[in-house]
Amino acid sequence: IAAHFGPKRLSGKTAIVTAGPTHEAIDPVRFLGNRSSGKQGFAIAAALAEQGASVTLVAGPVALATPEGVRRIDVTSARDMAVAVAAALPADIAVMVAAVADWHVEAAGQKLKKSAAGPPVLTLIENPDILALTGHAPNRPRLVIGFAAETGDLLANAKVKLAKKGADWMIANNVSEGVFGTDANHVYFVTAAGTEDWGAGSKADIAERLATRIANAL
Ligand code: CTP
Ligand code: CA
Repeated sequence: IAAHFGPKRLSGKTAIVTAGPTHEAIDPVRFLGNRSSGKQGFAIAAALAEQGASVTLVAGPVALATPEGVRRIDVTSARDMAVAVAAALPADIAVMVAAVADWHVEAAGQKLKKSAAGPPVLTLIENPDILALTGHAPNRPRLVIGFAAETGDLLANAKVKLAKKGADWMIANNVSEGVFGTDANHVYFVTAAGTEDWGAGSKADIAERLATRIANAL
């Protein structure tokens, strides 16, 4: 609530937020995707805009309303998302919340049909890593923040991703706890300096806390 009445601590700052899943076409009717709802990314875009930042939200296919005052760019695939993020640079802040598909396939122009030859074999091709490209870009934002969705060793994996992707901070969450599509989350805030357990909170709470942290850092 304080954020609604307090000073706009991010006025004059620009931010790029990615959110939602990406869909990778297999043919004109089918795709590879994942369970991301986009709620956490949309909440972060809203919280940054609430603090006065000029926010570009690059959204994969989700069924969510655009937060007030946010410029939204809708994309479908990871490759589209990478292009939209590059076009939105430079910015002061980048928060990569999207559950970007790690692979795409060479999409068929026609609907694939069952045949006596057996099921089609999909060859997966790795997608661009949008967070890593942003973290290592010559016009890198001052603050580059990623999310790490893990089912295994959460914090160790998040630290590896932090370093590898050139991020300043990672928000790590355990996706084996059934986070996708829900309003709640339990996250850890991971930096080169160490790790903080932010405990359980709503996606809106986490977004406000992150926005405050960003304002403190800039
Ligand atoms: N990310 C991205 N582009 C990709 C893959 C991931 O920008 N092609 C970003 C996500 O938005 C997130 C962070 O990287 O901020 C971590 O995503 P995650 O899926 O946890 O990491 P990966 O590097 O894809 O590793 P893996 O899925 O193998 O654990
Ligand atoms: Ca991944």
